[in-house]
Order: sequence, then C-alpha cells, then structure tokens
Amino acid sequence: MGNDAVNKLLILNGPNLNLLGTREPETYGTITLDEIENDCAAHASEQGFTVDFRQTNTEGTLVDWLQEASGTAIGIILNAAAYTHTSIAIHDAVAAIEVPVIEVHLSNVFAREDFRHHSFVSDVAAGVIIGLGAQGYILAIDALASMLRNQS
Ligand code: DQA
Repeated sequence: MGNDAVNKLLILNGPNLNLLGTREPETYGTITLDEIENDCAAHASEQGFTVDFRQTNTEGTLVDWLQEASGTAIGIILNAAAYTHTSIAIHDAVAAIEVPVIEVHLSNVFAREDFRHHSFVSDVAAGVIIGLGAQGYILAIDALASMLRNQS
C-alpha cells in the first residue's frame, strides 16, 4: 500500500446526492453535500485522516472508484443512494475489495417505500448507519477510525 493510502478515507456518494439542500428537504433536510464534505474533512482531520469526498450520478463510476480504493484508501464510506437498492455491480465491487466499507444513508430507508428496504450493499459492508442524517457520515468516520486503530 502506498504512503498516500495510510491516512485516506474515501467518501463516495451516488446519484442525486449533489442536489442535497434543495432535494426533498422534508426527507433529507437542507444541508448541502458541500457542507457534509466540509464537516467530514474537519472531523476526519481531528482523527488524523484525510478525506477524498466524491459524488457521481453514474453506477459504473462508483464501481471504478471502489476498485481504485484498493491500495489508495484505508476505509470507505459509501452512500450509493438509489443504486443501493438495485446494483449487483456495486455489491460485487464492495465484496471484491479488502478496504472496509461503511454504508450510510441519510434517511431511514426502512420507514420509506418497500423498494428501499433491500440493500445490495449491506451484506458485504463492514457496518451500516441509517436514518441519522448527515451525522451518519461523522459516525462512520468514528467507526472506521476505531476499526483501523484496532487493526494496527
Ligand atoms: C439515500 C436513500 C436512498 O433510498 C435514496 O435513493 C437516496 C438517498 C439516503 O441517503 O437516505 O438517494 O441513500
């Protein structure tokens, strides 16, 4: 693993999360993805980590980024958004890599439509944080920090 990977957390966001702030505020609140990124970077740096925070609307790009994480990041936080509920390719990518993945959702998907109740990510994730809003990303950073400390 290269030196860059030693302290880097990769935070990946899927489709429509770029619209946070104006998208269905009754479900997702009014925080923007830029604000979540800033909060994550600040919190991660207190724990000695850097953050590479990304968003895409494209399924294959998420697969590429997950694959590239091997050797370039030590932990991943993944909000695959709607692809969570549809993507065998993302399931397979998470299963294929050694880097631990924490699945995060802002909303409580179990309190929503039935089609959101199944995740193709959860069974291959190291852990899942659901329904706690943007705080879920912060809790995921803490969970990865603690997991990674215990490993070393
Ligand atoms: C989401 C929940 C998904 O069901 C939805 O498609 C999203 C966002 C969340 O963070 O609550 O786009 O992943």
